[in-house]
Amino acid sequence: MSRRCAPWRRRRPSTPRERWNGHVRCLAPATARRAVAEELVLVERDGPVAVVRLNRPQQLNALSDELMEALVSALRELDAEPSLRCIVLGGSERAFAAGADIAELARSSAIDLYYARRVERWDAIRNLWTPLVAAVSGYCLGGGCELAMSCDVIVASETARFGQPETGLGIIPGAGGTQRLTRAVGKALALDMILSGRLLTAREAQAAGLVARVVAREAWLDEARRLAHDVAAKGPVATRLAKEAVDRAFEAPLGLGLEYERRLLNLAFASEDAREGLNAFLEKRKPEFEGR
Ligand code: COA
Repeated sequence: MSRRCAPWRRRRPSTPRERWNGHVRCLAPATARRAVAEELVLVERDGPVAVVRLNRPQQLNALSDELMEALVSALRELDAEPSLRCIVLGGSERAFAAGADIAELARSSAIDLYYARRVERWDAIRNLWTPLVAAVSGYCLGGGCELAMSCDVIVASETARFGQPETGLGIIPGAGGTQRLTRAVGKALALDMILSGRLLTAREAQAAGLVARVVAREAWLDEARRLAHDVAAKGPVATRLAKEAVDRAFEAPLGLGLEYERRLLNLAFASEDAREGLNAFLEKRKPEFEGR
């Protein structure tokens, strides 16, 4: 039987994604969807590290519905691999991502966006276990800036420009731009950026606490890879728990956060990795972590 969906064989839309744009859409077979995903998102493995690159260069990696779908499915697949310890997420030299796809937004209604379940994709990225390093070169705007802020650490080229220019389009950020940016750089600078469209240079973003490392134009991806390999060499149970504990710092009052940290330390302490790490130090050898 042919796997192509004939236009006359319309069926009830079973998922919100199929109801996208208010009409029934013939979903491509899994293999075809994978091919599209592979084009929009390039994945490269380097031992315990994966490098995931957004690949819509003509649109400066504008985060279309399809690109986000491809990105989230690639990240989820990688996250499920036990041997993978850290993921680098990057774009091109010219743009990490220039924001949501404006053409797509312009032809969508609020209900189209609601049915596209965009929020769930952003939550999926935030809920990944594997530490994520954003490698940012060039434009990192709107949803691009929100995507970078959803990662755990940001490494930036000196060419990087960070901004939330949505008010210039008559809208506001919708994937954490008003919340994460404010927590990262403080109210004064966040409102300056969001209200006026001011872009921060990489150095300004680093001084404000948004970016961890700034490197020369040609070194952005290599530096992010190097950082990812450093993370990958640590105890995998520990890096996941540490990421969870630091995230908690943004959400909970200090007392609760400290309590949470203590409990996660107990959990880390109960891991085989902790025995291995402590013994390896005493035996003056490199630890061999299993992620158990
Ligand atoms: N969505 C869709 N397409 C976008 C895009 C976006 N967010 N950002 C850039 N593009 C497209 C442009 O339309 C252009 O396509 P074209 O060649 O078919 O005309 C292409 O990417 C290159 O962009 P261009 O504007 O020509 O490059 P530039 O170097 O002159 O300017 C930017 C770069 C990033 C300053 C400018 O593209 C821009 O302001 N983009 C929108 C940023 C934004 O508001 N993001 C928030 C979205 S909610």
